[in-house]
Amino acid sequence: MQRLAGKVALITGAGGWRAIGEATALRLASEGAAVAVADLKRPPFDIEDDSGKRLWEGTSSVTREVEALGARAFPINFDITAEDQVDEAVRAVLKHFGQIDILVNNAGASPGGDRVATVDLPKEEFERVVDINLIGTFLVSRAVAREMIKARRGGKIIIVSSVAGRHGRPLRAAYSASKFGLIGLTQVLARELGPHNINVNAVCPGTIDTSRLDSSARAVCAEQGLPWQEVRARMVAQRVAATPIGRIGTPEDIAGVVAFLASSDADFMAGQAVVADGGFVTI
Ligand SMILES: NC(=O)c1ccc[n+]([C@@H]2O[C@H](COP(=O)([O-])OP(=O)(O)OC[C@H]3O[C@@H](n4cnc5c(N)ncnc54)[C@H](O)[C@@H]3O)[C@@H](O)[C@H]2O)c1
Repeated sequence: MQRLAGKVALITGAGGWRAIGEATALRLASEGAAVAVADLKRPPFDIEDDSGKRLWEGTSSVTREVEALGARAFPINFDITAEDQVDEAVRAVLKHFGQIDILVNNAGASPGGDRVATVDLPKEEFERVVDINLIGTFLVSRAVAREMIKARRGGKIIIVSSVAGRHGRPLRAAYSASKFGLIGLTQVLARELGPHNINVNAVCPGTIDTSRLDSSARAVCAEQGLPWQEVRARMVAQRVAATPIGRIGTPEDIAGVVAFLASSDADFMAGQAVVADGGFVTI
């Protein structure tokens, strides 16, 4: 399907390995879009998958994967929390591709010292998560929306929230607050930008099998006194048991929903927060 032929997408947080941003870049490219692959600049690291051992080079690696599909890609490194970097990056993408039709706000704070009870949560950790998830998404959306309005071509803005943005669970105060906040931002932007033919919607993934899940397990393994792989397996088993569809999600599950929201199939949707979690929360 080439629903996105002739479109240009900017995807933040797209340089990760086994990640939603990577899968989304590949899905949008396979539907015909050119992709600006954005992320922080990170040191390369070794990975091992079905194609063996290799070096993962973040946005450069995802750019090569997109190009291997025959699509155009442009790697760009910037910090979404830095206003000047965001504005400069949007200008650079426009200079390279000439337009931005789709923005996927996928970048998110990694789990770390924020995964503690709220009474033990340091202010700095709360701020770190809100700064990336909420303020960063605001800055990128603002910069791209300004250009979309100027270009008068309409557009699609997709915000990656979470089921944690629809219901609160223990040890997620900063994450949940930021992801709830993103749904508020989605609704406001949808109302403000709708008259410019720009659709703004959010997707709320449940537990997805990404390398982020490894980090979540690492963040709590010391506390549980178990190896992180065992903590991860327990986390997955608990979630699967509580999920009607009987599995956790794949990055491709979320990429499919994003591709739909980015396409003209979703032209009459605005301000929605679409939950994709196998029925774990039925809101
Ligand atoms: N994996 C899940 O189970 C799950 C569930 C619900 C929601 N989500 C959300 O989906 C999105 C993608 O998650 P993922 O699982 O692929 O994890 P991920 O950690 O691989 O993706 C997040 C990306 O954001 C980037 N990032 C972090 N801070 C940044 C900054 N300041 N500037 C620019 N980029 C920055 C990271 O480098 C990383 O590549 C996140 O917003 C996450 O909150 C994930």
